[in-house]
Amino acid sequence: MTETGKKIRVGVVQNSPEFGSVEKNIDEVRQLVLAKTQDKTDLIVLPELFATGYQFVSDTELDRLAEEETGPTFQFFTELSFKTGAIVVGGLPIRRSKGITNSALVVFEGMLLASYDKIHLFDEERDLFIEGEKPLPIIPTSFGPMGVMICFDWLFPEALRSLALGGALIVAHPSNWVLPFGPQGMILRSVENRIFTVTANRVGKEERGGKKPLTYIGKSQIISPNGVVLGQASGENTEMLITDVSPFEALSKKVAGKSDFFQQRRPELYRI
Ligand code: ACM
Repeated sequence: MTETGKKIRVGVVQNSPEFGSVEKNIDEVRQLVLAKTQDKTDLIVLPELFATGYQFVSDTELDRLAEEETGPTFQFFTELSFKTGAIVVGGLPIRRSKGITNSALVVFEGMLLASYDKIHLFDEERDLFIEGEKPLPIIPTSFGPMGVMICFDWLFPEALRSLALGGALIVAHPSNWVLPFGPQGMILRSVENRIFTVTANRVGKEERGGKKPLTYIGKSQIISPNGVVLGQASGENTEMLITDVSPFEALSKKVAGKSDFFQQRRPELYRI
């Protein structure tokens, strides 16, 4: 158990998957993580769809690469978790009864702590995936409650707000950012909720099946509740960022002596 207030070690993987080469992509992430985590790590976050690639061109292709909840990605996260001691979070397409979801698994030593299906699908994802129907998860961990959201969810302020109001101190955020304003935008999200955010993004380009080219902007990052960028990866390289954080700093929602973000909320006056 991590004691209250103690620092935890967070690792963020920024990879560049070759579309459809799941085994190769998993093996590259395995090599990267094992080379970088000689010391115990508490949390490892991987990008959205980190092993398949992002730009699916047909339902058939997506179906071929989709997994069951306890498929190869779960097995890989289990292996990484046993080898590093970390809770592992990352994205994959999951075959559900009504269709395929753009999902994230949270795994610790062979236990599926949560599986989250993205609730705000971005652009052409809407032609392929079905929307998640369950609330954003908050998982009890030895370092306090942890939330999960996926990429575009961040642009819906209610998503992170609801995780923070639900008690999450840190949020794992597997992403495939293509829009340029994510890294800066997430600083404000972290500050307005006084919460740690851990965004794992990918790098590289995809231009498949006549679709518009996509360039992934990297810049995976860890942001503190004060908006300090505790670590940020490059815009173009495969790499793993390691940073120590104290999630319990996010327990206080005070931004100044007499101003507490959560106590001063006026939900009865908001036009919702
Ligand atoms: C995104 O949600 N992958 C931009």
